[in-house]
Amino acid sequence: MTSIKHYLQFKDFTREEYDYVFARAKWIKDKFKRYEPYHPLFDRTLVMIFEKASTRTRLSFEAGMHQLGGSAIYLNTRDSQLGRGEPVEDAGQVISRMSDIVMIRTFEQDIVERFAANSRVPVINGLTNEYHPCQILADIFTFIEHRGSIQGKTVAWIGDSNNMCNTWLQAAEVLDFNVHVSTPPGYEVEPERAGLYGTDHFEQFADPMDACRGADLVTTDVWTSMGFEAENEERMKAFADWCVDADMMAVAHKDAVFMHCLPAHRGEEVTAEVIDGPQSVVWDEAENRLHAQKALMEYLMLGRIEN
Ligand code: CP
Ligand code: NVA
Repeated sequence: MTSIKHYLQFKDFTREEYDYVFARAKWIKDKFKRYEPYHPLFDRTLVMIFEKASTRTRLSFEAGMHQLGGSAIYLNTRDSQLGRGEPVEDAGQVISRMSDIVMIRTFEQDIVERFAANSRVPVINGLTNEYHPCQILADIFTFIEHRGSIQGKTVAWIGDSNNMCNTWLQAAEVLDFNVHVSTPPGYEVEPERAGLYGTDHFEQFADPMDACRGADLVTTDVWTSMGFEAENEERMKAFADWCVDADMMAVAHKDAVFMHCLPAHRGEEVTAEVIDGPQSVVWDEAENRLHAQKALMEYLMLGRIEN
């Protein structure tokens, strides 16, 4: 089972593999926009396992698999044996014998790792407490579309050092850019949990304004991620000054874009003026989940394709 390629965290791919996947995502997107059918995954089945809520991830994987000629099956904790204590190792054995690729959204990263270790088919992390690699794949594809290569650029991360932040930090190491992180005290990046090789590609700032200064991309996320709802009240107080607003965007590079993985809470982590303003690319970012993940699934199942 060692030769199967999984996508469990951003650093699972090399820079060369990302160059390939981004080029494929563009090719697949352009073809889709021309209404040209493309069915390289005819007869293949994707199983999607959700232990947390989703709109974009479910929609983009399910629609993407259909558009590539295959089919998708949705499982959740409530309606399957997953919620009744079936060992994740057993689920990996069984589900991977009936499908060609699996996507999992769950809690601890350890769950996707254990599933993948028992899977006969590629496994994709559709979000864990620690990482959200499919989102950053789409985000960087979106940045490239709008501004070109991200190499050497600066991303400002404002807010919680959560799964999105950790994945940005891994991406910075793989694709050679910098991340300026500003979190409230007590919510700082934990490099080991983020799975980083070092600290060369990020800098922590006490003041979010300082993190945004000169940034090419400003981004944030909810103050309370799924699974951490019990901390919501204390987080609302702690994060009050970490709201991306027009003043923060004003100190960023004049061509800076604003991104948010969504769903967003206007008036909490970002003002309506910013997320609905001219620098925001959040709708392209959401759409690109579809195109980027189609390229990802094609690559994991079929390897490199020359056109
Ligand atoms: N950004 C994202 O993953 O959205 P969903 O939670 O709706 O899937
Ligand atoms: N950090 C958020 C992302 C949601 C797409 C969460 O984990 O809930």
